[in-house]
Amino acid sequence: MRVLVTGGSGFVGQRLCEQLIEQGHDIQVVSRRPHQVRDRLPSGCDIRDSAQAFIESPPDALINLAGESIAGKRWSDEQKAKLINSRVATTKQLVVLCEQLQANGQPLPKVMVSGSAMGYYGDQGKRVVTEETKPNDEFAHRLCKQWEAAAQPIEAMGVRLAIVRTGLVLDAGVAAYRRCYRRLSWD
Ligand SMILES: NC(=O)c1ccc[n+]([C@@H]2O[C@H](COP(=O)([O-])OP(=O)(O)OC[C@H]3O[C@@H](n4cnc5c(N)ncnc54)[C@H](OP(=O)(O)O)[C@@H]3O)[C@@H](O)[C@H]2O)c1
Repeated sequence: MRVLVTGGSGFVGQRLCEQLIEQGHDIQVVSRRPHQVRDRLPSGCDIRDSAQAFIESPPDALINLAGESIAGKRWSDEQKAKLINSRVATTKQLVVLCEQLQANGQPLPKVMVSGSAMGYYGDQGKRVVTEETKPNDEFAHRLCKQWEAAAQPIEAMGVRLAIVRTGLVLDAGVAAYRRCYRRLSWD
């Protein structure tokens, strides 16, 4: 399959692209800086600076991971806006790509796996959380809600949409708590 990945240069994306290439898929990566991230990705990846740049080679599947780093900076009001807007804008790029493919009579992807996070539920204390749990209305929830909503229009075009509310991703040799929580403050 031909798989387009936004955020393919990131912590999760790099590992995902490696595995997809190993499985024999063709990988298209959207990055804001294709030349700088070249050496982070397997040599077979086609890296371009927008989703629209792949219009001539329509992907069979979309995986949407890009967004301003959650742990990069303190969550000032300005940074919170960046966290939301970067994810919503990237997701909309994929919706626009599908609209253009449809308008051109080109094949649409069969599926889009779009990122979200356990933050959707907000702080639930020690409660066991399921998909039915009522979210706590705080910044993390509002971010995920807008990120998920930006992907919804793709379903109306007949593309299957899977939203993944990822928990904390771990990797051997990477200090997760230092990486993720050093500079993070809730709400
Ligand atoms: N890691 C976790 O534990 C975890 C948990 C739950 C949810 N998630 C979510 O899953 C997604 C992938 O996680 P990750 O840890 O791989 O993230 P990451 O390492 O921070 O990578 C995200 C990618 O997004 C792109 N990006 C960064 N800032 C951007 C901006 N302002 N506008 C547009 N693109 C931007 C970057 O790619 P370029 O520089 O190449 O453009 C970057 O490689 C993220 O959206 C994250 O919020 C992660």
